[in-house]
Amino acid sequence: MKVTTIGTGYVGLVTGACLAEMGNHVVCLDVNAEKIKMLNDGGIPIHEPGLDAVVSRNVAAGRLQFTTDVDAAISHGTILFIAVGTPPGEDGSADLQYVLSAARSIGQRMTDYKVVVDKSTVPVGTADRVRAAIDAELAQRGTPIGFSVVSNPEFLKEGAAIEDFMKPDRIIVGSDDDQATLMMRALYAPFTRSHDRLMVMDVRSAEFTKYAANAMLATRISFMNELALLAEQVGADIELVRRGIGSDPRIGYQFLYAGAGYGGSCFPKDVKALVRTGREHDQPLHVLNAVEEANERQKRVLVDKVVARFGEDLSGKRFALWGLAFKPNTDDMREAPSLVVIHELSKRGAAVAAYDPVAMSEAAKLLSHVPGVSFCERADHALANSDALIVITEWKEFRTPDFDRIKSELNQAVVFDGRNLYEPATMKLLGIEHHAIGRGTTAPTA
Ligand code: UDX
Repeated sequence: MKVTTIGTGYVGLVTGACLAEMGNHVVCLDVNAEKIKMLNDGGIPIHEPGLDAVVSRNVAAGRLQFTTDVDAAISHGTILFIAVGTPPGEDGSADLQYVLSAARSIGQRMTDYKVVVDKSTVPVGTADRVRAAIDAELAQRGTPIGFSVVSNPEFLKEGAAIEDFMKPDRIIVGSDDDQATLMMRALYAPFTRSHDRLMVMDVRSAEFTKYAANAMLATRISFMNELALLAEQVGADIELVRRGIGSDPRIGYQFLYAGAGYGGSCFPKDVKALVRTGREHDQPLHVLNAVEEANERQKRVLVDKVVARFGEDLSGKRFALWGLAFKPNTDDMREAPSLVVIHELSKRGAAVAAYDPVAMSEAAKLLSHVPGVSFCERADHALANSDALIVITEWKEFRTPDFDRIKSELNQAVVFDGRNLYEPATMKLLGIEHHAIGRGTTAPTA
């Protein structure tokens, strides 16, 4: 099939590359000429495991192309994915200007039947607005051409996006028309060969499903984070509690990890947007409102612990900070809890020596004006002359560090463990003061 993705960001690029992998001919369009040049020169603008290989294989096979040429891109695809950004506007609602401008571009140029697929996360009712925008352009041209608008939200996890696309848990297709449904079924058939994972529903339910999923997951995390704070007060260990409740199949083990707060491009934005939708419909989402508040507080929990240990004035202190990306296996810094921690430490006069396996150049762009921040080539380089180590992102390489080195290089053997990577009992034996999330503080054995 001939496919075009309008928007070659994270979602558009992964979608385009994975569809090309199954034999489709895909053109990825973007307004950003620099990004398209980079892709055409063999580069990949984001860090995503496995993406590089899929892109280069399919470019070499002539099935995947990158362009800024809007006319050519729209004429190429019978299926046009809209995968442009939907950043939060000032009031928290999703800003649809890029989605609607993509729709207008399609309406201005299409000459034959198209299936227009909303892939970006968009509020309920957006498909109707996309349809209206295309209709308006066609009416102006005086050319009645058939088209369908379908909602097909993505559920890709950064760092596992290729795997998620190739072996999806589910594919949601919101469609009110048979021809488009058939085409979407055919497009996704190779991804659901073992058993059918494609669910067809009405457009509005599909649009809503995406928000509901992210809101549910964000709620789970925030609730665990709050339980963790209380666990510390009452002397319970949230890790044991997690295992205790996760064993109930109705709860399950996944997404139950207390930590330094959630970040990324999806949860914060989608939670805000759904809260906003609730308000617009006079149906306030009390629980979700609290989720957002709890997460803002959670991003400061590590700072609170540092301040409780070292005092409000941190001038003259230096902290080694491991992990900048909002989660492992990505260089994405959007809404990363590390940003809050670094700003707060810097504000109190501390120096921060940061290390991340892949996100340092992204982080440097955002932190260039923050006083006292430096970046280290290796994790252990951050330790020397630092007063404590703060771990924020659970990269695998931080799971079993050289504890003797941590102990000998830090001015004081103090670790703030924002992702509960280390066992309090082990740290106690090692003689390292350990501040975890929801597990209390372990002072070393005297
Ligand atoms: C998420 C959804 O999982 C995906 O389906 C959707 O399409 C986009 O949003 P992503 O943003 O890549 O994907 O990250 P995810 O792995 O879901 O993690 C989100 C945040 O929650 C991270 O900051 C992570 O550190 C945090 N998290 C996750 C926890 O704090 N505890 C957990 O138990 C799980």
